[in-house]
Amino acid sequence: MIRSRIAGIGSYTPEQVVTNKDLEQYMETSDAWIQERTGIRERHYAARTGETTTTMGVKAASIALERAGIGAGEVDFIIFATLSPDYYFPGCGVLVQRAMKMGEIGALDIRNQCSGFLYALSVADQFIKAGMYKNILVIGSEKHSFGLDFSTRGRNISVIFGDGAGAVLLQPTQKEGQGILSTHLHSDGESAEILAMYNPGTHANHWKPGLADFEEAPIGEMFMSHAMIDKAQNFPFMDGPAVFKKAIIKIPEVVLEALGANNYRPSDLDLLIPHQANLRICQVVQQTLGLRDDQVHNNIQRYGNTTAASIPIALCEAWEMGKISEGDLVCLAAFGSGFTWAAALLHW
Ligand code: UT7
Repeated sequence: MIRSRIAGIGSYTPEQVVTNKDLEQYMETSDAWIQERTGIRERHYAARTGETTTTMGVKAASIALERAGIGAGEVDFIIFATLSPDYYFPGCGVLVQRAMKMGEIGALDIRNQCSGFLYALSVADQFIKAGMYKNILVIGSEKHSFGLDFSTRGRNISVIFGDGAGAVLLQPTQKEGQGILSTHLHSDGESAEILAMYNPGTHANHWKPGLADFEEAPIGEMFMSHAMIDKAQNFPFMDGPAVFKKAIIKIPEVVLEALGANNYRPSDLDLLIPHQANLRICQVVQQTLGLRDDQVHNNIQRYGNTTAASIPIALCEAWEMGKISEGDLVCLAAFGSGFTWAAALLHW
């Protein structure tokens, strides 16, 4: 039976470290509030120029390829997950293909925010199992620092997010006890506007839930207008408590679904890598599943929430720290904007 396995993994976080204290110069916040509510102590920000979502992705990908022992020319498909692309279009996949001087291979972009990496991994897994490709590069990368509201108005979001990238190289394996066992993907579009960036967009109105100033956009101002910027509608919006309440239900649910589908129980897990959105969410997930501390890897304290990059960065770190050995049962699980949520269960 053909499965796909992670043959190489890499991550990259930019040099600049921004502490909670550093953020106090832009907005009314405090190190105590951020640590107590999120667990975050610091995050990394990309260089303002010269460093993009793509360039960070390329750095992570280069490490993954080197560890897999293959050259960029041997990659036969690229999947790139991000919510902060270099351009509105085209996506980052083709920019990776160009930067890494790959052949004219396919490049797919995934827009599933915090679950983006797991959606990408799942698509790659299907291509490998179907025999279509043999070396798929899966990247999750974000440059959040460029699109956040650093005034007090945006503090519930801006203190959470950080920049960085993670990548894996997937290859087929027929080895017993190795590879991705299953992936599980979900969505609930009813909550699409609870965590979203509305503009620029094609919904053709200056719309934001909870605001009374709904108005139709005039011709010529449909996509991006001064009014949108004046009303700060070019920044992400999040009803944090609503997202929190849903995340602590859906993450354990999808982990149990993945374990159950393969006749495992939480006690069988060697490591769970939950999406790093909030340390308190990860702690509730751990408690709900009855997992020991050594069965869960968190690193949000040092990186913040890096959305599509969060799982590959944490997975890479756990592997580098020697927390994952060959044959280990590892579960990856995420929840975020959409809402979308997902899990992957694998033997390392
Ligand atoms: O990765 C994508 C998925 N996203 C998530 O999973 C995020 C889930 N949500 C959360 O992590 C939390 O809801 C937040 C960390 C975003 C917010 O924490 P919270 O404990 O839910 O706080 P809150 O939004 O209920 O706000 C409580 C208070 C408010 O003040 P008042 O109204 O009580 O006076 C906020 O204005 O905290 C205030 N506040 C802040 N204070 C200092 C919000 N952000 C900040 C801040 N610094 N950065």
